[in-house]
Amino acid sequence: MAQDLQRGDLIVAVIGAGTMGRGIAQVCAQAGMTALLFDAREGAAREAVAAVDKALDGVVAKGRMTADVKQSVLGRLRAIGSLDEVAPAGIVIEAIVEDLAAKRELFRALEKRIAPGAVIATNTSSLSVTEIAAGCGDPGRVGGLHFFNPPPLMKLVEVIGGLRSDPALVETLTGFVRRIGKHPVVATDTPGFVVNHAGRAYGPEALRIVAQGIASPHEVDLLMKEAAGFRMGPFELIDLVGADVAHAVMVSIHAQYFGDPMYQPSALLAVRVAGGLLGRKTKQGFYNYDGPPQASAPTVEVAVQPVPSVAWVADEDGGKELADILKSAGVKCQVGGAPGAGALCFVTPLGEDATGAVVRLKLDPARTVAVDMLGGFKGRRTVMKTPLTAPETLGAAVAALSADAPVTAINDSPGFVVQRLLAMIVNIGTRIAELRIAAPGDIDTAVELGLNYPKGPLALGDMLGGRRVLSVLDGMHAITRDPKYRATAWLRRRALLGISALTPD
Ligand code: NAI
Repeated sequence: MAQDLQRGDLIVAVIGAGTMGRGIAQVCAQAGMTALLFDAREGAAREAVAAVDKALDGVVAKGRMTADVKQSVLGRLRAIGSLDEVAPAGIVIEAIVEDLAAKRELFRALEKRIAPGAVIATNTSSLSVTEIAAGCGDPGRVGGLHFFNPPPLMKLVEVIGGLRSDPALVETLTGFVRRIGKHPVVATDTPGFVVNHAGRAYGPEALRIVAQGIASPHEVDLLMKEAAGFRMGPFELIDLVGADVAHAVMVSIHAQYFGDPMYQPSALLAVRVAGGLLGRKTKQGFYNYDGPPQASAPTVEVAVQPVPSVAWVADEDGGKELADILKSAGVKCQVGGAPGAGALCFVTPLGEDATGAVVRLKLDPARTVAVDMLGGFKGRRTVMKTPLTAPETLGAAVAALSADAPVTAINDSPGFVVQRLLAMIVNIGTRIAELRIAAPGDIDTAVELGLNYPKGPLALGDMLGGRRVLSVLDGMHAITRDPKYRATAWLRRRALLGISALTPD
C-alpha cells in the first residue's frame, strides 16, 4: 500500500547533505516534518545541520522567524550516521552526486531498509528518473522531485513520474510538494524536464551572438536587462552559475536529444571552460571579479553626429512607432514611399538582417540602418548597420534615437539581439508544449519561478505577437538555413490562427 505523505507524523529522509540535500531537509523540517539527513562522508550531515542552524540564525535576526520556531525546526532536523536509520521514513529524497551508478546503488540499498510502500524521490537535474528507477526492485515507488537552488528560497519543485512509476505517485508527490509550501509543476521524464530545457535559449543563443561578432557580452547583457526586462543578462548568469556547469548542461541536453541542433552547445564556451575562465568562482569569466569592473570597447564604434533633420522609415511592422520616436526627437519623418535625396533611411526588420531589408526595399546601404522594434523595447534601443552603412549615417541614427533611451549599435545579423533571443525563448517554450512535457500554463509558471524570467515563454510569445515571433524565426531560418531556427508546429499553428500560444490542442 502506498504511503500517505500527508500523515501528521510523516518522517522524511534526505540522502546527501550537500548544497541541495541540506536545503531540502531544512524545508521539510520547517514544514513540520521530522527530517533525517544522511551523507556518505563521515561528519557531513552534522556539518550540514550546523550550517542550517547558522542560516536560520540569519532568518531570526531579520525578524522572519522567532527563536522558538527556529528551535523547534532544529529539533525536527536530525543528522543520522547510518543508512539503517532511514527505516521509519515514508519518503526518501535523494540528493547525492549526479551519477547514475551511484544513485542506482543507493536506491537498492534503500529498498532493503524502508517500508514496502515508502516512496523514493530523486533530485536529479540531468538523469532520467525512469533509468534510475530501472535499477530498483520496485520502480513503481520511484519518482523525481527536482528542487531549485537554494531550496529554502526557490518556490518551484518539478514533479516527475518515471515510465514505470505507480500511476498515483505523481499526485502523491504533488501533494507532498504543496505540503512543504512549494509550487509543484508536473513534467514528463525528458531531458532537462521543463526548466533546464526552457533555459536552452537564453545562454546558448547569446553565446552564438557573441561568437558571430554581432555584439559583446556586456552589450548583450545590457540589452536583455534594459530593453527586455530580464533581471540578469545571459553572461552575468553564466558567470554566476559557472561556465563549467552551464556548458555541462548544454552538452548533456544536446546529447540526450541526440544532437538536435536546437540545443547545440557553444564552442566559445567550451574553450573558456578549458581555459579555466569559469566566472565568479575563478574571479574571471565574461566579467572580471578581481578588481574594479573593466569597460569593454564597443563592438561598433559610433562617431558623434548631430541629429539628422530628415528621415525616411520603411512602412513595415514597427515603422510608424519608430517614426513617432524620431519625430519627438525633432526629425522630419516620412513613412513609406520613395526616400527623399538627403533622408537618413530606417528599416525595422523581423528576422531579416539590415542588408536583406536594404536590398529588398532597394535602398542605399550607405545611408540606411535597422532598428529593432519588436516589443517596443523602451529601456534601450538597438541600431544595426549593414557592412556598407556610412559612419555618419550610423552616428546620426544613434543621435536621433538616444534622446530618451540609451542606444547600442551592433553588426548586421538576422534578428538583432533582443528579438533573436526572445524568439528562441518562445520557440523552445512551445517545443516543450509540443512534446507534452508539461501543461502550457505550467511551462510559464515553471520558467517564471525557476528561471526568474519576467514572463513565461508562451505568455511572452503572446505579448510580442505570435505572427511576429514566427516572422523572426522564419527569417532567421531562411537566411541561415540552420535547422535550430525552425519554428515549432505548435507556434506556427497558433500564430496562423491568431490564438494564444497557451491554447491546448
Ligand atoms: P553536492 O556535491 O553539494 O552534495 C552531494 C552530497 O552527496 C555530498 O555531501 C556527498 O558527500 C554526498 N554523497 C555522494 N555520494 C553519496 C552516497 N552514495 N550516499 C550518500 N551521500 C553521498 O551536490 P548538490 O549540488 O547538492 O547536488 C546533489 C543532487 O542534486 C545532484 O543530483 C544534482 O544534480 C541535483 N541538483 C543540484 C542543483 C544545484 O544547483 N546544485 C539543483 C537541482 C538539483
